[in-house]
Amino acid sequence: MRFAGSHVLSISQFDRAAVEQLFSVADAMRPFAHREQMTRVLDGAILGSMFFEPSTRTRISFGSAFNLLGGEVRETTGFEHSAIAKGESLYDTARVLSGYSDIIVMRHPEDGSVAEFAAASRVPVINGGDGANEHPSQALLDLYTIRLELAGRSRGLDGLRIAMVGDLRYGRTVHSLSKLLSLFTGLQISLVSPEALRMPAEVVDELRSAGHQVLETEALEAGIADVDIVYSTRIQEERFASREEADIYRGRFRLNQSVYTANCEPNTVIMHPLPRDSREGARELDVDLNDNPNLAIFRQSDNGVVIRMALFALILDVADQVEKHSGPVNWFTERRF
Ligand code: CP
Repeated sequence: MRFAGSHVLSISQFDRAAVEQLFSVADAMRPFAHREQMTRVLDGAILGSMFFEPSTRTRISFGSAFNLLGGEVRETTGFEHSAIAKGESLYDTARVLSGYSDIIVMRHPEDGSVAEFAAASRVPVINGGDGANEHPSQALLDLYTIRLELAGRSRGLDGLRIAMVGDLRYGRTVHSLSKLLSLFTGLQISLVSPEALRMPAEVVDELRSAGHQVLETEALEAGIADVDIVYSTRIQEERFASREEADIYRGRFRLNQSVYTANCEPNTVIMHPLPRDSREGARELDVDLNDNPNLAIFRQSDNGVVIRMALFALILDVADQVEKHSGPVNWFTERRF
């Protein structure tokens, strides 16, 4: 894969060499993300940020990543604040926005919409999530997190044992993560979901074709036993016809401290792309796990910044210039964890 000038629309674009290259650049971004140093390598560059679905992590971390590299962010959120609400097409929007920006990140509720937009864009476009289809930068930060969390253990990415739990039908993060895991060897994968929310057959087929052992089950306890990682997901209410339909499945698989203690190995890492649904009746990942040291969800969201910095640096071809444009920070940077 050649990063410079490329769109990032699907995780299928990545091979293992590209993943390793990205992770290596992400490692080099850590001092900047942690405010130990600053860099102005993208001074003068503009990120166009267009989020037509709600987002906290993806929108803000992409913006922060660009700012941390010295660039500026111009953004629009929600259809109601965009000329799309007046009937403007994705084609016209892409032609216009790509005249104002050096790179664009976009989230849109329809599968394939970001690729359609990218086809008309004159600058690289990163998919920040298109409907139930894909969320490639999330998969990359998830895999980067898994690698860091398992560092120092005998098990690496090859031979990984992982359970994905919840809404595997509409959860775009698990679709992209599964495709990324297909690059590795000898995985044991438990897919825990209600029958109606199973992982799409083509994604399961890709995992099996890669030689991985795949167990599909509706039994949470069996699915999360003997795994290195439990990756919990929210019921994607916004993809259902009604809230009532989503309610049928909400709260079905609840991971809390007692379920974890009874079923998981002592060091099983707990992940979730977030947001978790903390409302009464949902709680797929209970707040009583907040003090569990194996809860990696906030380390995971922090890793979104370095992965997105690395994507920008590679796509805009400045990865080898970051250090040259760096210097000390001059503000109070101590963080409490
Ligand atoms: N994980 C994720 O995509 O979160 P947001 O919806 O807050 O961006």
